[in-house]
Amino acid sequence: MRKKVTVVGVGMVGGATVQYLAKKDYCDIVMVDVVEGLPQGKALDLHQAGPIEGFDGRLIGTTDYADTANSDVVVISSGLPRKPGMSRDDLLFQNALIVQSVVEKIVPQSPNAVLIVVTNPLDAMAQLAYHTSGLPKNRVMGMAGVLDSARFRCFIAEELNVSVQEVTGFVLGGHGDTMVPLPRYSTVAGIPITEMLSEERIKEICHRTAYGGSEIVSLLKTGSAFYAPGSAICNMVDAILMDKRRILPCTVLLEGEFDVHGLFMGVPVKLGSNGIEQIIKINLTDEEHTAFQKSAAAVQELIDTLRTRLIF
Ligand code: 2OP
Repeated sequence: MRKKVTVVGVGMVGGATVQYLAKKDYCDIVMVDVVEGLPQGKALDLHQAGPIEGFDGRLIGTTDYADTANSDVVVISSGLPRKPGMSRDDLLFQNALIVQSVVEKIVPQSPNAVLIVVTNPLDAMAQLAYHTSGLPKNRVMGMAGVLDSARFRCFIAEELNVSVQEVTGFVLGGHGDTMVPLPRYSTVAGIPITEMLSEERIKEICHRTAYGGSEIVSLLKTGSAFYAPGSAICNMVDAILMDKRRILPCTVLLEGEFDVHGLFMGVPVKLGSNGIEQIIKINLTDEEHTAFQKSAAAVQELIDTLRTRLIF
């Protein structure tokens, strides 16, 4: 039997995810949204690309959660983008209510699924989804690090004029300005970039990586990135469905690892059919450790704000 993947929220990110995933041709896909007609229309459109692109999988667009039953992986990308006049906290609370309600509807239908949360602010939403779901911690995670490290890899490859395929990029921390790109662990064909680029250039590339999402928002003006986020989500789904045991940076619950307790943060993990198979611990220098703790404090602040109005 083919595996089943549900994508909740089929805006630009959800839509791009499904497009990448459909091309893999190894799973059935359910697209869910609250806007009647949107998931049905996008599913039908993509289905009609099948004969050209050569994929057969079943694609369903629906507003009915019953159609999502027994999914192996559920991607939650529903949420509102920030609008003029809206504070960061307004977005936090509005998206929190959306994520909570999606999780409450999805988990009874697919109690064995792995959840991948994509809604922003990412780390807080992943944590909220975990507490709301009642699922074990290995089966709830956020997508951020794969995207952030892909951006890092792009900028490194561009700078050195080499193929992105030679470049690995290591980014830890929360999905925000405080994220922690780690040049020491980022390589070109196995050579640390610290041996190939000046400290100053590395600093600039790290800064551009941390603001990679904002750079796109300011260009698009009416929305945020979706091609690379969709591709990053697909990469994680792939590792889970194919039990690849890839080492990827994902947002997961830390309970003492990296000196963080009870908080969702981006760290390298082994990703396979059980979701998070293992958290990979690495040594950090004092400076890296301080940057990671600063990022944890920023995530903690959002969680504390959320808990002033929501119980989870
Ligand atoms: C990004 O970093 C929107 O979080 C997404 O582009």
